[in-house]
Amino acid sequence: MPVSHRLTAPAPGWTTTTDVVVVGSGVAGLTVALNVRKAGLRAMVVTKAMLDDGSTRWAQGGIAAALGEGDTPEQHLDDTLVAGAGLCDEDAVRTLVTEGPSAVRNLISVGAAFDLDADGEILLTREGGHHRRRIAHAGGDATGAEISRALVAAVRSDPGLELIEHALVLDLLTDAEGHAAGLTLHVMGEGQRDGVGAIRARAVVLATGGMGQVFSATTNPAVSTGDGVALALRAGAEVTDLEFVQFHPTVLWLGPEAEGQQPLVSEAVRGEGAYLVDADETRFMVGQHELAELAPRDIVAKAITRRMQEQGAEHMYLDGRHFGAEMWEERFPTILASCRSHGIDPVTELIPVAPAAHYASGGIRTDLQGRTTVPGLYACGEVACTGVHGANRLASNSLLEGLVFAERIAADLTDRHAEGGLPERAVDVAGARAARSVPLLAPEARAEIQRMMSTGAGVLRSAASMAAAAAGLAQLAEDAFAHVAEEKPADPRVETWEAANLHLVATALVAAAAQREETRGCHWREDFPERDDAHWQRHLTTRLSPDGTLEAR
Ligand code: SIN
Repeated sequence: MPVSHRLTAPAPGWTTTTDVVVVGSGVAGLTVALNVRKAGLRAMVVTKAMLDDGSTRWAQGGIAAALGEGDTPEQHLDDTLVAGAGLCDEDAVRTLVTEGPSAVRNLISVGAAFDLDADGEILLTREGGHHRRRIAHAGGDATGAEISRALVAAVRSDPGLELIEHALVLDLLTDAEGHAAGLTLHVMGEGQRDGVGAIRARAVVLATGGMGQVFSATTNPAVSTGDGVALALRAGAEVTDLEFVQFHPTVLWLGPEAEGQQPLVSEAVRGEGAYLVDADETRFMVGQHELAELAPRDIVAKAITRRMQEQGAEHMYLDGRHFGAEMWEERFPTILASCRSHGIDPVTELIPVAPAAHYASGGIRTDLQGRTTVPGLYACGEVACTGVHGANRLASNSLLEGLVFAERIAADLTDRHAEGGLPERAVDVAGARAARSVPLLAPEARAEIQRMMSTGAGVLRSAASMAAAAAGLAQLAEDAFAHVAEEKPADPRVETWEAANLHLVATALVAAAAQREETRGCHWREDFPERDDAHWQRHLTTRLSPDGTLEAR
């Protein structure tokens, strides 16, 4: 079944123009926007919900950088490479860890207030895979919320920075040379702009976050439907490492039927000394890895899953009772409140936890300036694959990646603009609609995709489980054609566009994951239990061919 190069949508009813359009309002998107504004470029931020509704504000643990006494970028590099299981791009990691400390200081100068000790030094904690205390945090366990607050305040104080909230991006616009020239979008609700429109721009930056909603249970918010990766694929960009979806080991278990966004119990809770135990209160991580509960998160997620299988259990437990009430209240107020709101008191009770989809280590392939393989299209943050995460992201490297590479993208745009390398692009907005599109999926497809992906392409995978997921996904596409033949096509609207995006990224993810016949990083192939460096110490890159087939190589 061919894949669409364009979402079925009405022709744009309005058009506006800027220099740089940034899609997404997390740490990556807002940092790009603020920095290009400093250089005098016009910028517009488009975001799917409100400015502070993306994934950034849910980040608990913090932001990793070699800021502590005795720590060095080289040690941060070593820990990142180990977690990445042989697939990190060392130049990208070196860039991350050496530019990281100054990027954090820049964030502080924008107004982010990190937790400090009595001497005014930044307090640092530990998380899985880090051999040092290196994670800066804010509000105890509300780091993302504080970063988001500071960046949103800075953005709102710049009247020249145009914001479009409640807008779903649809497709990229390109000029006759194939250079990004803007995008089409749908603005939901009331306001000056409504319905489908177009933004013409000299460059487009995707910072749309993750795709956790392809799975039934995820730490990602409902807006994380893979829109950026789907748009990039349709535009012909290369995406890479899609098979490496990270499952966070300790997500609050709310019952077998729980779906959608689930509450995170930060790795920092283990960093401060909480234990993982089974129902008999046995610490099963001890002896499995030198760092025990603080092993890289793939190892912990797999160990929990294995223990659950062995014991026929639906979850394991996190034990932080020895912290006492005061420490819970001061250090982890968000998690404490979230557990209590679900009837669990971590001060006196074990916390039920199980792994859930958390982070896409892969994404749209970029170079060290954030440039994708489509000229004029940049990607930054979780939607991008800069090469820093390899097969498994090191805890708390994601906010840092968003910051460091956002600064680099802004610098690249600024330089290119100064050199005359970012001319206004001619684009036929109405003509762009002529590109081939295939029927949209019914909104109910979302839950079916999530179920198929959770069963077929979760922490544990096999050729058989992924073949079943691929067949189910193909059937959904066939159903969409059948509905057209019956003159009952799904009408273009947010739910059907999101279902189409989820379907495309799920299909691409399964295609890559099925090819990787080894166990590495985030996932565990039951039929290929070993890591196979001889054949698989390489990346799989996926693109949509002109005839509409997805190729993963
Ligand atoms: C956590 O706080 O455990 C999540 C941090 C991360 O995903 O980097």
